[in-house]
Amino acid sequence: MAAKIISGTEVSKQIKAEIKAEVDGLQAKYDKVPGLVTILIGENPASVSYVTGKQKTAKELGFYSIQDNQSADITEEQLLALIDKYNNDDQINGILVQLPLPKHINETKVLYAISPDKDVDAFHPVSVGRLVIGEAIFKPCTPAGIQELLIRGGVETAGAHVVVVGRSNIVGKPIANMMLQKAKGANSTVTVVHTGTKDAAKYTGDADILIVAAGVPNAVTADMVKDGAAVIDVGVNRIGMTPEGKAKLAGDVDFENVKEKAGLITPVPGGVGPMTITMLMKNTLEAFKYSLQSK
Ligand code: GUN
Repeated sequence: MAAKIISGTEVSKQIKAEIKAEVDGLQAKYDKVPGLVTILIGENPASVSYVTGKQKTAKELGFYSIQDNQSADITEEQLLALIDKYNNDDQINGILVQLPLPKHINETKVLYAISPDKDVDAFHPVSVGRLVIGEAIFKPCTPAGIQELLIRGGVETAGAHVVVVGRSNIVGKPIANMMLQKAKGANSTVTVVHTGTKDAAKYTGDADILIVAAGVPNAVTADMVKDGAAVIDVGVNRIGMTPEGKAKLAGDVDFENVKEKAGLITPVPGGVGPMTITMLMKNTLEAFKYSLQSK
């Protein structure tokens, strides 16, 4: 049976329309809109491309948005002062510092400096702690996008065996935590498979929902997947260039073969990727609503 292919691009369109309608309503009521600043240090091409996408979407949704480009030789002290400025700027509800940062800057220190109330990436330890105890204000964007794809794709998560491949702080650990919460789109039994796991296929082959964030092309092949499983591919691997000079992308899953076995699968590109940006917008809207409440 060929899998249902779930398009993150289509689901994103729906969510963005919902966000836009809410922003229009809030603007009419309060004469204010959500504000997002994206801070980019240096000119890493992948980072430039991500940040450009985030800014474009913010503008489409009617947000107040600032793209703050800083040179790669900015000092840590200057960057911390810049974050402090945005922490105290009432027009800004969300602050995103694009990673990775240059080696001379301590990433942890920078992420800790962002006010937890404006932490739309949800990388601050306060946000991580809130997520773990089921009290999240913001969910990290990629895991939030995965959960939304499962919900809107009609996948039953309650009681399902979710197997997560990868234990990064950005995807593996938070999605594992989110799926075990007693909540909508969760309440699952969760296993995390990682580079220290013996016989990964033993676990992936039992997954009702398989979430793959390994960062390795073809990490999951058809023999590792149960018939009818929902397979979410988080991988974004650059595997060369298209004739038009664009980066050619591949996921972590052997899509062509796994799609013949799975019940549902996300493509790369056009699966989880577009959802990540959309959930950043959702978090910025949440931060804006939170700021209205706390006034
Ligand atoms: N670099 C790659 N992905 C991300 C992300 O989700 N947020 C930030 N801030 N930087 C990134």
